[in-house]
Amino acid sequence: MPDITLTTLHGLKAKGEKITMLTCYDATFAKAASQAGVEVLLVGDSLGMVLQGHDSTLPVTIAEMAYHTACVKRGNQGALILADLPFMAHATLEQSFANCAQLMRAGAHMIKVEGAAWLAETIGLLADRGVPVCAHMGLTPQTVNVLGGYKVQGREHAQAQRLRADAVALEQAGAAMLLLECVPSALASEIAQAVSIPVIGIGAGSGTDGQVLVLHDMLGLSLSGRVPRFVKNFMADQPDIPSALSAYVKAVKDTTFPAPEHGFSA
Ligand code: KIV
Repeated sequence: MPDITLTTLHGLKAKGEKITMLTCYDATFAKAASQAGVEVLLVGDSLGMVLQGHDSTLPVTIAEMAYHTACVKRGNQGALILADLPFMAHATLEQSFANCAQLMRAGAHMIKVEGAAWLAETIGLLADRGVPVCAHMGLTPQTVNVLGGYKVQGREHAQAQRLRADAVALEQAGAAMLLLECVPSALASEIAQAVSIPVIGIGAGSGTDGQVLVLHDMLGLSLSGRVPRFVKNFMADQPDIPSALSAYVKAVKDTTFPAPEHGFSA
């Protein structure tokens, strides 16, 4: 059991304190980030891009996710570990059960799945079986080929309505948390107010209940050279990595990050 639990995160939302999350893929950074006060370490399938050098997250396997989750567990000092189900790992219910079991055995406390209302049954059945689920909505990188690129989602009225309705449906189905990626700030804020579970944002403005960034991005490292507008380089004015991690936690908590220029308009 981590020091930070799902109950802690729900309590932070209830009292209006922002939740801090960062991606993390190894033991050394798990120790540094958790010691800096990062509450949730996300073993994201972004590791396919930032560690493995792929141009998408699609090649990442469940075995690789389990390996990195186990690495993070060894260094973690009390943060909640959230691990991603990679591409196609939740295509069927049976696959979802087996793959969640693998990640939970490796050390995950919660599982993140990309999708929307079509995931309601899966999320409910996983919750019944002891797996808290975070539903990743908006820009879902595993469906980049369907979306036609890494684009802001929810700008059109119908799309925004669907995102709102899906968020409520997934809470009702038993989701423990939501993650919104690249949605207009005003819409993300509305969704965070419409549900009682924590809503974490990336490129979703400051009105969500917490923030996440990819570790390499916030340390000013970029393989592709393309830096999304929602990224802030916390190394820019800090002397070392532990200070940059602490600066990120402070900026999320005191709501100076994200600033309006890190978000998207409708
Ligand atoms: O895989 C990942 O790192 C993620 C974040 C971008 C939220 O899903």
